Amino acid sequence: MDQLCLALTPVCGETRRTVINARSDPGDPVVAAAPSLSNIDYPGGFYRELSPVHLNFVCALNGHAAPNLGEAFTYCELGCGVGDTTTLLAAAYPQGRFVGIDLNASHIAQARQLAAAGQVSNVEYIAGDIARLDTDSLPDFDYVTLHGLYAWVPPAVQEAIRHFLRDKLRPGGVVYLSYNAMPGWGSASPLRRFFLDRKDQLGDDVLAGVRRIVGELVWLRDQGAGFFRDNPVTADIVRTLESADPRYIVHEYFSHDWHPAYFADVDEQLRTCGLSFVGQTGVIDSLLAHSVNPPFAERLRDIDDRVARESLRDFIQNRFFRRDVYIKPLPGTLPIPGEERFDQTLLGLIADPVQIPSTIHFPDAPSVTLDEHRLAYVKHRLGYRVKTFAELSDDPTLSPADRATLRDDLKLMAAGGFCAPCLSREIEPSREPVERIALPSPLNRVLLERHGWSENQLLLVSPVLGNCVALNGIEAVLLASLQQDRALPWVWDRLQKNGIAINSESAGTPIEDRDAGIQALDDAMARFLRYKLPKLAFLGVVGAAS
Ligand SMILES: C[S@@+](CC[C@H](N)C(=O)[O-])C[C@H]1O[C@@H](n2cnc3c(N)ncnc32)[C@H](O)[C@@H]1O
Repeated sequence: MDQLCLALTPVCGETRRTVINARSDPGDPVVAAAPSLSNIDYPGGFYRELSPVHLNFVCALNGHAAPNLGEAFTYCELGCGVGDTTTLLAAAYPQGRFVGIDLNASHIAQARQLAAAGQVSNVEYIAGDIARLDTDSLPDFDYVTLHGLYAWVPPAVQEAIRHFLRDKLRPGGVVYLSYNAMPGWGSASPLRRFFLDRKDQLGDDVLAGVRRIVGELVWLRDQGAGFFRDNPVTADIVRTLESADPRYIVHEYFSHDWHPAYFADVDEQLRTCGLSFVGQTGVIDSLLAHSVNPPFAERLRDIDDRVARESLRDFIQNRFFRRDVYIKPLPGTLPIPGEERFDQTLLGLIADPVQIPSTIHFPDAPSVTLDEHRLAYVKHRLGYRVKTFAELSDDPTLSPADRATLRDDLKLMAAGGFCAPCLSREIEPSREPVERIALPSPLNRVLLERHGWSENQLLLVSPVLGNCVALNGIEAVLLASLQQDRALPWVWDRLQKNGIAINSESAGTPIEDRDAGIQALDDAMARFLRYKLPKLAFLGVVGAAS
C-alpha cells in the first residue's frame, strides 16, 4: 500500500456509506490480526498504473508485445477492495470484460453500488477468497492486476494467486503486481510491531485509537527518540501517517500477514507461473539514465542480468514499494529490441501546451531541461492531437539522430506526467459555440455529484486516455457550476456553507470578503475555460449539452 508516497488518490472525497457487517472470515488478514478491526473497510482509490493502456505502454517501453486494446479483452483485479480502479477502467473500456474479486463482502457491495449508479455494465464483482475460488466459471484473462494484496496475505494465498496466474492468465497476458519491498522496509518494519503491541488499546472508536498511536509515534520522533534518530526514513514515514487515512493504517500495519519481499524472490516465484519480468510501471524506471544518479546509472548499465540489476537498483533507491509488470510470453515471441513498439503507441499531451515547462524534475535523479526548439515542435505537433511517435516524427527534415533525441524527450515528458499513452484519437471539439456543457459518461456524472462541492481532488474517466484525468477541488467545483449552470455568487455561498475556504493567490490566505471571493472564483473560471475545459473536451470527458 503506497501511502508512503501518498499516491493514494481517492476518486472523489465523498465519505462512503460503510456497510457495517462484522467480518468474521478467518482468511481476512485484518480480522485474523484483531477481530475489533473487522468492520474497518479499506478506503477507495484509483490507480492509473493499473490501466490497460499504461500496462501496454510499459510493455512497449521494454520492447514487449501486449494485448490489442482495439479488440475485446478480459481483465481481473484480485483483492479489488471497493472497486474504484476496476469500475472506472470498465467505464473507460466498453470493449473489455472486467471482473473484481475481493474477500470482503462490504467492499464488494460498495463496488457494485458504484458500478450500478454509473451504469457500468461490463464489470462483475465476486465476493470470495482467492484461495477457495471456483475459477472454472471465470474466463481466462488478458490482464490480471493485484494492488496492495500479495505482501499482505498468508503464503497459502500467495500460492493460490500464483496458481491463478498460471491457470487463468492467457499466453501474451499481462500482470500488474505491487508489494512492500525490501530493502526499504528493513529499517522501518519495527513500526508495525509498535502498532501491533497496542492493538488491545484501540478502544471502541478504533480509528481514534489508531490516531492516538500515530500521535505517540510523532511525540517520540519529535523528542528525538533513538529509533527515529538512527533511522531517518522512519521519521518520514511517520510524517505521512499524520495525514494518512486511519483505515489505510489499519490494513497496512494491523494486517495479520505482512511480508515485504526482495525483487529476486518475487521474480523467482512468478517464473514458476511461466511469467517473465517486463519492467516497473513508473515510466522513469524504464529510462535508466534518468532514474538514478549518473555513477549508479553506469554501474547498472554494466549489469546484463535483469534480476541482479533490479536488485541492485532497489538498494540504490532503498526501494519500499514495487509496482511490477510481468508478461506470460506467447510461445515463439521474444521482446523486440529497439523502439518499434513505442513508435506505434498513441500519445497525447495531458496539459495545455503553455502549461508544460521545459525543465522536468525527477525524485531520484537530476532534473532534465528539454531543448526549446524540440519542445516547441512537440507542442505544435501534439497540442490538441493524439498521434503515434511515428506520425509525430514523420518530418523529412528530421535526421535519425534527431528522431532518437525527440523520442527520448517524449519519454521524459511521459515520465514527468505531461504526456501519456492514449487509447484512442482525440475527440473533435464542437465547432458551434457551446452554451452548456455536459458529461457524456453516466459514471462521471455520478462522481461529480459525489464530489459534492468539496475541496477534494476529483478523477474522471477519459475514453481517449483510457485512464482518468485529475481535477483539483476548485476545478471540480467550477465544472459542476458549468454543468449545473450555477452563477459564481451561488458557488461562493455554497462553498462557504460547506466550510470550504478559497485562498487568495497572492497572500495564500483564506479570502473572507464575499466580493473578493467571487472575483477570485471568476479569475479561476477564466483559467479553467482557457486551459482545463478544452483539455477535458479533447479527452472526451465533457461535451456540448444536447
Ligand atoms: C489493501 S486492500 C487493497 C484494495 C485495492 N486493491 C486497493 O488498492 O485499493 C487489500 C484487499 O485484499 C482483499 N483480500 C485480502 N485477502 C484476500 C483473499 N484471500 N481473497 C480475496 N481478497 C482478499 C481485502 O479484502 C482488501 O480489500
